[in-house]
Amino acid sequence: MSKYLIVANWKNNPATQDEAQELFNSVNGGINNNQKTEIVICPPFIFLPTFRGFTSENGVILGAQNFDLEGEESVETLKEIGCQYIILGHSERRVNLGETDETVNNKIKTALENNLKPILCVGDKKRESKEDFSEVVSQLKEDLNGVKEKDAQNIIIAYEPVWAISNMGGRPATPEDIKESSDSIREILSELFGNESASQIKILYGGSVDSDNVKNILLESGVQGALIGAASLKADEFLKIINNI
Ligand code: PGA
Repeated sequence: MSKYLIVANWKNNPATQDEAQELFNSVNGGINNNQKTEIVICPPFIFLPTFRGFTSENGVILGAQNFDLEGEESVETLKEIGCQYIILGHSERRVNLGETDETVNNKIKTALENNLKPILCVGDKKRESKEDFSEVVSQLKEDLNGVKEKDAQNIIIAYEPVWAISNMGGRPATPEDIKESSDSIREILSELFGNESASQIKILYGGSVDSDNVKNILLESGVQGALIGAASLKADEFLKIINNI
């Protein structure tokens, strides 16, 4: 079985470079005999140069939370620092910063051209009827528009229902809901890229994942990893998540 992908999305935390260094070192130094997971840590852009050229034997990889097509965070800079993954289309950027599907689509293509693996976040704002999922369908179709089949294997999808994210009031989705959504996402990916290529794409779940629920979520929903916000900011808790998988 391929490894689970566990992504730490630090958002705009912690406040200082020293704390960022400490958190990073505690996580990287605390991982032993990691056979089951590939771990991507995505600190705020301002702290990334602290980790330039970082390599790890523990399966820890550097990622980023954004780049701008016209602005101060370029894809070339992320590559030069050594980032391998990039979180794109996070709901907080879509909702709070008005990021459009067109922008997300352009960023995905730019990331792929530059050998950065995009972690595309998609999510429904509520789950009251079947129609609510149509938002995820249109995000997938628009954000992946024009992406070539040969690049599909380098894309990761993170299903992050907005209502499940911890700082939006969060309650984790049930494994049944996650399974249903990830199956539907896989169907759309098959429509876009064909069954064979779609089957190689990792689908993650994000939203209030912690050390108590991670194992259940992964095993019962069948997703291939998790995108973790709040629980990735405490080294002990994050290490427990890794160890509990
Ligand atoms: P959470 O955040 O784990 O704190 O719910 C997930 C995310 O927003 O990526």
